Amino acid sequence: MQTFPSGFLWGAATAAHQVEGNNVNSDLWVLEHVEPTLFAEPSLDACDHYHRYADDIRLLASLGLNTYRFSIEWARIEPERNRFSLAALDHYRRVLAACHENGVSPMVTFYHFSSPRWFAAMGGWENRAAGDLFVRYCERSAQHLGNLIDFATTFNEPNLPLLLRWISNIQIPFLTVTRMQSQASRAIGAKRFGCFLLGDAYKLRDAMIPAHLRARDAIRSAPGNYPVGVSLAMQDEQAVGERSKRDRKCAEVYDPWLEAAGKSDFLGVQTYTRCRVGKNVDLGPEPGVELTQMDYEFWPEALEACLRYAATRVSVPIYITENGIATSDDDRRIEYIRRALVGVFNAIESGIDVRGYIHWSLLDNFEWIFGYRPRFGLISVDRQTQERIVKSSARYFGELAQTNRVPDLAAFL
Ligand code: BGC
Repeated sequence: MQTFPSGFLWGAATAAHQVEGNNVNSDLWVLEHVEPTLFAEPSLDACDHYHRYADDIRLLASLGLNTYRFSIEWARIEPERNRFSLAALDHYRRVLAACHENGVSPMVTFYHFSSPRWFAAMGGWENRAAGDLFVRYCERSAQHLGNLIDFATTFNEPNLPLLLRWISNIQIPFLTVTRMQSQASRAIGAKRFGCFLLGDAYKLRDAMIPAHLRARDAIRSAPGNYPVGVSLAMQDEQAVGERSKRDRKCAEVYDPWLEAAGKSDFLGVQTYTRCRVGKNVDLGPEPGVELTQMDYEFWPEALEACLRYAATRVSVPIYITENGIATSDDDRRIEYIRRALVGVFNAIESGIDVRGYIHWSLLDNFEWIFGYRPRFGLISVDRQTQERIVKSSARYFGELAQTNRVPDLAAFL
């Protein structure tokens, strides 16, 4: 039986806004409730994980997983500029303590897409003070939580706005975005509503790379002694014919952030699918290839390709901080996990320092503008009762975790 290196992390991930519920002080809550909105539905109670975290962490541990990746919410911790909430910080101390009580390593994301309303009202990441404010929030949080944290990332997918600029086969209704943003500005009495996913991708990059490096230092100098990294959105970018567009895309979307990750303690790789890049445009799914609920190609091999690309740019350890599939057919999730993990093992065999695999997601949750329809969870959540139901894929994944086992290459469903 082949196994992963000892000490390999086996985990599942969530993000505060997607699972906690009632993140009412966040910028995204505002966007969900204006008219028109891009959001298919509002997040509301989400998975009520803010109150049910202890049960959820117990369930994660009972599957055999040893790592829980989750985010802390800036909008709760600093509800008004310069006003920090001790109650919110204490809440996250209890979440961290619950991980340790269950033998689970916590990996904390300091920023997963959502910001406080007041931050949006000052123009978000495009305001010159944004970096200072973010670093101070990280410092304050790490001071309070640091001695219970095992791994941290500053940002989740800070390169996503750049990636979205290049994806030419997704049609974003531009008029709705503009009207949503102006309604949101009105709702919070601001001139401009500055939001991570709607900002100017280049200005964001120029503000967020230095903010990441400074936050890394601030977190490192607080109590605790744990690695601090950054998680990036990565696709397997496959050139169809001429390579130049693909190479330009990678140079712009991934390389500057990989350079920043290389100056950190680790890189988090987050991969869902591949992308076929033509001479001038992304070509979209290849006819005949199975699609997921996100209309992504079912392409678990993308993960290995991204690990290989990342390894040409960084020499720090790599953790897969997200990988998963939106599907209501749980057998396809099992197959996806199986093939993705075989790819991870191949990468390790060829000398790439991959130290863990964290699946997205622990729970069926709020998938941003798509609402609750896409099902990424290892565990389903009854939207009426909040009852958790463990899926077969969770048991399959948990069994691999318990034995640290590489899935059988020959097995098929
Ligand atoms: C994000 C998650 C999201 C997942 C699935 C990643 O881009 O970090 O918040 O739910 O992909 O789309």
